[in-house]
Amino acid sequence: MGIMKHKMGVIGFGGMAGWHYTVMEKYDRCEMKGVFDLDPRAMERAAEKGLYCYKSKEELLSDPEIDSVLVATTNDAHKSLVIEAMAAGKNVICEKPVTITSAELEEIMEAEKKYGKVFTIDQNRRVNYDFLLMKRTVEKGLLGDVYVIESRVEGSRGMPSGWRTLKDLGGGMMLDWGVHLIDQLMYMYSDQKVTNVFCKMYRIQYPEVDDNFHLTMMFENGVTAHIEVATNNYITHPRWYVLGKTGTLQIDDWGNTGKVVRCIDKEDKWAEEIVYTKAGPTKTMAPRNENSTETIMLEEKFDVPDDMRVVYDQFYDAVEGKADLTITSSQALRVMKVMEAAFRSDEKGTAEQVYI
Ligand SMILES: NC(=O)c1ccc[n+]([C@@H]2O[C@H](COP(=O)([O-])OP(=O)(O)OC[C@H]3O[C@@H](n4cnc5c(N)ncnc54)[C@H](O)[C@@H]3O)[C@@H](O)[C@H]2O)c1
Repeated sequence: MGIMKHKMGVIGFGGMAGWHYTVMEKYDRCEMKGVFDLDPRAMERAAEKGLYCYKSKEELLSDPEIDSVLVATTNDAHKSLVIEAMAAGKNVICEKPVTITSAELEEIMEAEKKYGKVFTIDQNRRVNYDFLLMKRTVEKGLLGDVYVIESRVEGSRGMPSGWRTLKDLGGGMMLDWGVHLIDQLMYMYSDQKVTNVFCKMYRIQYPEVDDNFHLTMMFENGVTAHIEVATNNYITHPRWYVLGKTGTLQIDDWGNTGKVVRCIDKEDKWAEEIVYTKAGPTKTMAPRNENSTETIMLEEKFDVPDDMRVVYDQFYDAVEGKADLTITSSQALRVMKVMEAAFRSDEKGTAEQVYI
């Protein structure tokens, strides 16, 4: 007899659930059994893949074979579906952003306690290799004490039309991408509070929601993070740019390669001479002596897949009682609160002092 697999039911079978289907085909602990979606076209796509098509969410939630439910609908529907699924005795994975507001998430957390089910969120970007490379390099101390982290995701094609352009459905780039980029840094500095949040949002293409934003958040350890999500940048910055007291890191793109330039000779004596450069006579901005820095090319291998299997593993470990969850609702609550501070900051045009 083969190993018993968990069986998952999916509510909302759009683009992201289709990606879950593909990843789950490579995953040995669970199989997708069936789906329910309000849109008949989504149900047709599910049927083509050989998935069972439930006639209602109630039929899916009362299927005793289903022990876990993935909620992958538009963001406005997450809260009620997650709570209904837990009330029906299912363990639940919810897509990000877990909810649109922290108050909605608090309702989910009440239900989590009430029904005693395992609940996690698909913060799959904690295992993106570019992020792991940045985190590992900083933690190795290769840059000395870090004081600035710049994290950017930039496109130029505008936002996709549809629900992402509508506020009531949880649209906008803060909830879509901001939630990942904030989560990465709050996970990296999980023992540090966020103390200040300043955000400027832009509504370039769509008037209702932020289609671009610049966020600055400060951690109590003195690290300032700049996060930019853009849909209108025709020239892009590197994915990561990090300043430490003795080195600078740059990772250009998604993936496991990048570089660090490290100081090996401070050259303090340079301050005595004026150097004539294109910028005019300057000491401060004069070029360095070549031998005073070293360039380290980064390339790391990681022993985890860069996809949702890591999210599933920690979920099914918790379902089977083998380990505690690593992606929890209380972590997501902190991220939601930072995003809410960002919205308040944008509205007022001032920084928000927080302790999150
Ligand atoms: N983790 C990630 O990297 C990632 C990437 C993309 C999207 N997402 C998230 O996944 C979710 C879905 O995004 P998408 O891009 O697949 O959107 P989508 O529009 O392609 O799919 C959403 C589907 O949900 C269905 N739906 C909406 N309300 C429903 C309800 N009450 N009951 C049943 N079905 C319902 C719609 O009919 C649609 O088929 C969002 O929360 C989004 O933020 C996560």
